[in-house]
Amino acid sequence: MTEQPTPPEQCDATLSACVQNLGINHIDRHVFICADQTKPKCCDKAASIIAWNYLKKRLKELGLDKPSETSPHIFRTKANCLRVCGQGPILVVYPDGVWYRNATPEVIERIIQEHFLGDRPVSEYIIATSPLPTLSKAPT
Ligand code: FES
Repeated sequence: MTEQPTPPEQCDATLSACVQNLGINHIDRHVFICADQTKPKCCDKAASIIAWNYLKKRLKELGLDKPSETSPHIFRTKANCLRVCGQGPILVVYPDGVWYRNATPEVIERIIQEHFLGDRPVSEYIIATSPLPTLSKAPT
């Protein structure tokens, strides 16, 4: 038996609820980290999973994983490979375009405290900086 497609109006409601729940319209920074790779090349796979779990845990503990009046909203995504493939875990922060190497839990804590909360990137772990161009907001 073939599964019936979801009616468009139901899709819209589901997606709208998801966008709302994730606070996507209020993201201040989006962080990607290379973790749980199919082919771990930049670091040990287990180490990358530890880093990813630490990032998730700390953003949640600090209330940075959702919109707030008092703190930035940091959205996080686990990437399979960020194509740098050395001295990982590799982590990149947008819109700043700051790329970090060796994103261990200790370095991630510094990135959270200094970069996300203090607006001072952690210079000794930066491998590249390439901010995204400023764009006007798309209509909602
Ligand atoms: S495997 Fe981590 S950046 Fe490619």
